[in-house]
Amino acid sequence: MLIKERLFTPGPVPLPPQVIKALGQQIIHHRTPEFTQIFNDVRQKLQKLLKTERDVIMFASSGTGAMEASVLNFFKKKDKVLVINAGKFGQRWKELGTTFELNVIDYQIEWGKTYSKEKIEEIVKENPDIKGIFVQQSETSTTTYHDVKFLGEISKKLDDCLLVVDGITSVGVYEVYPEEIGIDVLVTGSQKALMLPPGLAVLYFSEKAEKRLSTSDIPKYYFDVAKEAKKQENGQTAYTPAINLIIALNESLNLILDEGLPQLAKRHEIMAEATREAVKEIGLKLLSESPANSATGVYAPEGINADDLRKQLLKIGFRVAGGQDHLKGKIFRIAHMGYFDFNDVIQVIAGLELALAKVGYPVELGKGVKKAQEIILKNI
Ligand SMILES: Cc1ncc(COP(=O)(O)O)c(C=O)c1O
Repeated sequence: MLIKERLFTPGPVPLPPQVIKALGQQIIHHRTPEFTQIFNDVRQKLQKLLKTERDVIMFASSGTGAMEASVLNFFKKKDKVLVINAGKFGQRWKELGTTFELNVIDYQIEWGKTYSKEKIEEIVKENPDIKGIFVQQSETSTTTYHDVKFLGEISKKLDDCLLVVDGITSVGVYEVYPEEIGIDVLVTGSQKALMLPPGLAVLYFSEKAEKRLSTSDIPKYYFDVAKEAKKQENGQTAYTPAINLIIALNESLNLILDEGLPQLAKRHEIMAEATREAVKEIGLKLLSESPANSATGVYAPEGINADDLRKQLLKIGFRVAGGQDHLKGKIFRIAHMGYFDFNDVIQVIAGLELALAKVGYPVELGKGVKKAQEIILKNI
């Protein structure tokens, strides 16, 4: 029987036809006016996306490259920094910090939970010399949302502290305006809500962060923000850029800006709510106490291995992600960021019901679908 595979993983996500078309074009050379024109267009659109007039730079790398650049360029060895470590990617901030010899305060949080404001206030009171706060706005491994606005306020009150936000699964899902929120360094990657293949990373830095560029003493070569920023403000990159991804980004940014950021954020909110309410209606438990709108993490029912359930889902036509590290086999994650609409949510919930029935869970077919439809109906 023909079964079409549908991608519901939290990165990479499906590509819009406009992006596929752009990627299918013959390559152009990057040291040309033609490329510079496109590159400058993309830079302006990124500024609109983040509501800023500051230059936003791009690296040919996955998102982790821009995370590494954030550590290398805006800090000095031994700088005391606070890491909100609530999942796989919070752990990555910690590892990057320790690799480059920062003095990391590792605030470990149970996976599926967000930080406590009181605890942050306590840490900051005891450590007024903190030079940076590192966080994920959307921690993809646990599908958890962390409130970055509060951290922005905390950071501003400190003497000389930068708020560094991994927006890899929040930019293009929420309205993320660093200057309104108080974010000093914001990174994102191409294979999530920017709706592209992997290989392009984006980095915003504030005026306050810019002042740190000259004092940072951590060795760097490729991920040199000052060098890149200087080149990129003239429509070029220091090294060979991800040409086709940048051309395709022009298309996906058109889609995002045409939809409008408030509408885009609302669409993600509705898709996330419909998914969450539907899985709860089916009788399953959500992983996160502070769920993000990018993806939904769900515990497999008692006695059923989440990876067996995922295999069943794949047979039915849905590729969802599993749990990472100690959540492996326990949870599965359904993405709804980027090129997804309401119908995708209805489809994946219908598929989940079929897969659950196949693995022997007593599911009433259509119950979750109905719930998702009710939520969608209220919003369209
Ligand atoms: C929140 C978050 N941070 C960092 C990363 C790492 O990005 P990359 O795999 O593009 O290096 C991911 C990827 O899943 C992510 O979701």
